[in-house]
Amino acid sequence: MKIAEYLNYLQKYFTNRSDVLEFASHTSGIPYSQIPMHLSDNILITDETKSKLDRVKSGEPLAYVINNKNFYGFDIYVDESVLIPRPETELLVEKALETAAGRKNLRILDICTGSGCVLTALLSKLENAEGVGLDISSDALETALKNLKRYDLKAELLCADALRIDELDLSNFDIITCNPPYLTEQEWSDSPNSLKYEPKNALSAGVDGLLFYKKLMDMIPNICNKNSGSAHFELGLGQYELLKNEGYCEDYSVTKDFQGIKRVISWINL
Ligand SMILES: C[S@@+](CC[C@H](N)C(=O)[O-])C[C@H]1O[C@@H](n2cnc3c(N)ncnc32)[C@H](O)[C@@H]1O
Repeated sequence: MKIAEYLNYLQKYFTNRSDVLEFASHTSGIPYSQIPMHLSDNILITDETKSKLDRVKSGEPLAYVINNKNFYGFDIYVDESVLIPRPETELLVEKALETAAGRKNLRILDICTGSGCVLTALLSKLENAEGVGLDISSDALETALKNLKRYDLKAELLCADALRIDELDLSNFDIITCNPPYLTEQEWSDSPNSLKYEPKNALSAGVDGLLFYKKLMDMIPNICNKNSGSAHFELGLGQYELLKNEGYCEDYSVTKDFQGIKRVISWINL
């Protein structure tokens, strides 16, 4: 079958064109951006391709089927050990890079690192930076290590509970990033089936979803360097107001995402 026909054939499995192209690229080995130049190449639909399409049809996220998600221009290996990186988390990277502009030799702490997508992006973009990635899941840390190695990056990976971070010997960080689990138990239960493929502890954070922010915001000043050290958190819908009402976020600036949701809060330790 020609690639052009293959793309038509794939359409019934996906809801958008970019997923069709991503799957076609994965199965043909042709880079995504070059597919339009190879429409008359031939491709065989193998049993492996068919079984991957069955997984797509059953509702499994494409990123797990092809073990890849592009994040901030980096191909991140993903499997069921980690949350699939979301486009809105790129804003967390952007805000951290903004505060780091022009500075070298920075120490980065990425709390709840998961696939290591944030750490991978920051370490790649910042000159001579050192990184620590912390997560409670050792399986997630194995995946993070895979991603760091893929880009020839080194970082310390710590298997630890972020909610007991004050018991760890951590200090002197210039950039702290955190995209914690932030769905309430109810939101997680009501969430679409596709989310159920992802680790529950990457998404759900107790009754009000604010657990991690409250704990971490209280102790961030102890581990963040003075003179422009900064901390950045990703938030869920409506959480900025909830935190603010409880007296948190006072010194944090807020950045909205493309949908107008208050998505990232940042604090600079002046
Ligand atoms: C929302 S995911 C974020 C993953 C990644 N940073 C990203 O942005 O795609 C949250 C991560 O927090 C981890 N996690 C859950 N509870 C934790 C805890 N108590 N301490 C440390 N990490 C935890 C999960 O294993 C998961 O990898």
